[in-house]
Amino acid sequence: MATTDRTCLTVVLAAGEGTRMRSDTPKVLHKAAGRTLVGHVLAAAEAAGSTGLAVVVGPDRQDVADDVLRTAPGARIFVQSERRGTAHAVLAAGEAFASGFDDVLVVYGDTPLVRPETLRRLRAPLAHGASVVVLGFEAENPTGYGRLISRGPSLVAIREEKDASEDERAIKLSNGGLMAIDGRRALELLGKIGNRNAKGEFYLTDIVEVAVLSGLGVAVEAAPEAEVQGVNDRLQLAAVEAELQRRLRAAAMAGGVTMIAPETVFLSHDTRLGRDVIVEPNVVFGPGVTVADRAVIHAFSHLEGASVGEGVSIGPFARLRPGADMAAGSRAGNFVEVKNARIGEGAKLNHLTYVGDAEVGPRANLGAGTITCNYDGFSKHRTTIGADAFVGVNSALVAPVTIGEGAYVGTGSVVTEDVPADALAIARARQVTMPGRGKKLKAMLKAAKDG
Ligand code: UD1
Ligand code: CA
Repeated sequence: MATTDRTCLTVVLAAGEGTRMRSDTPKVLHKAAGRTLVGHVLAAAEAAGSTGLAVVVGPDRQDVADDVLRTAPGARIFVQSERRGTAHAVLAAGEAFASGFDDVLVVYGDTPLVRPETLRRLRAPLAHGASVVVLGFEAENPTGYGRLISRGPSLVAIREEKDASEDERAIKLSNGGLMAIDGRRALELLGKIGNRNAKGEFYLTDIVEVAVLSGLGVAVEAAPEAEVQGVNDRLQLAAVEAELQRRLRAAAMAGGVTMIAPETVFLSHDTRLGRDVIVEPNVVFGPGVTVADRAVIHAFSHLEGASVGEGVSIGPFARLRPGADMAAGSRAGNFVEVKNARIGEGAKLNHLTYVGDAEVGPRANLGAGTITCNYDGFSKHRTTIGADAFVGVNSALVAPVTIGEGAYVGTGSVVTEDVPADALAIARARQVTMPGRGKKLKAMLKAAKDG
């Protein structure tokens, strides 16, 4: 039976507190590329064909459970009430695989760089008779990792650093921590693991010796070290972020995006950029951004939860917040902020403008400094601007308010009442000009100062 036809339960171990993070947030909830570490692991497990997900969390970790269920609503949560080792942690989810899966994958919630292809490769030998498959890598510095002990071509044991002899410590082939186990044998094999070792823990790694003693097949699949990089401190978190960004930028450029200085552009795991999009330097994409073909994102812009249509121009120095929806050919120029607003086709917000909780019709033009006053200190209100309307510079539109199609609002207006279609509204004090009075005023002021 091919791997693709086999059922697979992925057990994610996420009970670690991560004390070296020095954080109030549990380690697996720290984020890289706009998603939690455990979220990356769950996504990889799903993409690798998992048909079931079980996540093992520490006691009182509702926050981790909530995050897991947001990413993977079908996942089952298990609590490991005492930290007694990686095998003990997998067994905490034992109920999930008692029902029978062809394959059981074990992955760590703090190892977010593993690729779905690698998980598939790890599963493959199970379809050909292996009972346990270990993900091995050549560690540049193997300190702290379990070492893969072979006899001839066969793996016979994994030795943890603390239990290893000097000769064993010299081995560079290390345990990446991820494993695939024959689902029909998993419970039985895990049940035979003891805790006679330096830490007094039940080591998942001992499953190799248990399997070998039972005459079962054990295999090793190799992976690049970068994929098994775990996160234990903030430095490693930054290294993981850097690697994810490298991958995301490369994928965007492979898809037809021009990046002038890719190392200065920050993407999220779900950023979608169309063909011939140009992204200038120093642009940040938070989660939930879609950019259609031929749009240009100019330098120093920040986008999050936004949709950018075909040929749209954003920035430089623009901010699109959640719910910003820029239709084809529209523009948001320098120092423009858009939030929860639909900007119609070809509409222009060229300078120094805030548009929030609004609908701006096609081809409307908002002059520099136009502000939608959407918040009264208690509630948010909507502004509606019709197609082809023109709003003069430095106007305040006090919501709720509607500017009709084709209407014209005079510069510097404070608009508090609806403006009908095609009307002209000027809402500012009339100018007063007094001939000669400027000169007199200056003389008075000078005399007052000179005493
Ligand atoms: C583990 C492996 C080691 C491997 C390394 C790769 C074991 C015994 N050792 O070592 O061979 O080279 O990973 O990074 O498996 N966890 C629980 N409950 C527990 C213990 C651990 O959920 O009781 C979780 C941790 O949160 C973590 C993962 O399991 O996500 C690994 O545990 P950790 O203590 O970090 O193992 P290492 O010593 O790094
Ligand atoms: Ca670790």
